[in-house]
Amino acid sequence: MPDDWVGGTSIRAAVADDVADIVRIERQSFSRPWSARSFHDFMRTPSAFVIVAAPAAHPVCAYAVAYVAADVGELANFAVAVDARGKGIGRMLLEAVLDRARSLGAASLFLDVRASNVVAQALYTSTQFIEVARRRDYYAHPVEDAIVMRRSLP
Ligand SMILES: CC(C)(COP(=O)(O)OP(=O)(O)OC[C@H]1O[C@@H](n2cnc3c(N)ncnc32)[C@H](O)[C@@H]1OP(=O)(O)O)[C@@H](O)C(=O)NCCC(=O)NCCS
Repeated sequence: MPDDWVGGTSIRAAVADDVADIVRIERQSFSRPWSARSFHDFMRTPSAFVIVAAPAAHPVCAYAVAYVAADVGELANFAVAVDARGKGIGRMLLEAVLDRARSLGAASLFLDVRASNVVAQALYTSTQFIEVARRRDYYAHPVEDAIVMRRSLP
C-alpha cells in the first residue's frame, strides 16, 4: 500500500465497475449493508452523486453517496475500507462531498450517525458539523439512536 495515501489518492465520480469494490467496503462497515442495486440506483439519480477515493494503482478504498434537493444536501452513505482507515482518506472524501454539494446549490449538508460511532462523530465535529437532533431507536442491529448533524455551506 502507498506510504502517502492522501497524496497518491484521487477522488472521482463512481462508475458501474466500482460497485463491487463499494459493496465489499459496505459489508465490512455496516451491520445492515446496502445492496449493489442501491448504489446503482443512486448513480442513476440526477440529484445524487456517488464519489470514490482510489489510491494510485489500487482499488477503490472509500466511497460517499449524497444528494441535494433544493438547497439542502444529505450525506446518505460514507465509508472507508478497514485497511485504509486512519490515514486521512475519510476527511479528504468528506471535503470533496462538501465541495460537490455546495456546487450543486446546497446551503447545508445533513447526516445521521449512530450514537456509538464516536470515530465518525469526531470527524464530523472537526469538519464543523453540529448536532441538531436525535432520532430515538432509529437504527437496527443493534437498536440505537441516530444523531442528526448539520454543516452549513456558506
Ligand atoms: C468514519 C470513517 C469514514 C473515517 O474515515 P478515516 O479515513 O478512518 O478517517 P481519517 O483518517 O480521515 O480521520 C479523520 C478524523 O476521524 C477521527 N478518527 C479517525 N480514526 C479515529 C480513531 N481510531 N479514533 C478516534 N477518532 C478517529 C479523527 O477525528 C480524525 O481526525 P484527525 O486525524 O485529525 O485526528 C471510517 O472510520 C469508516 O469508514 N467507519 C465505518 C463506516 C462509518 O462509520 N461511516 C460513517 C457512517 S455515519
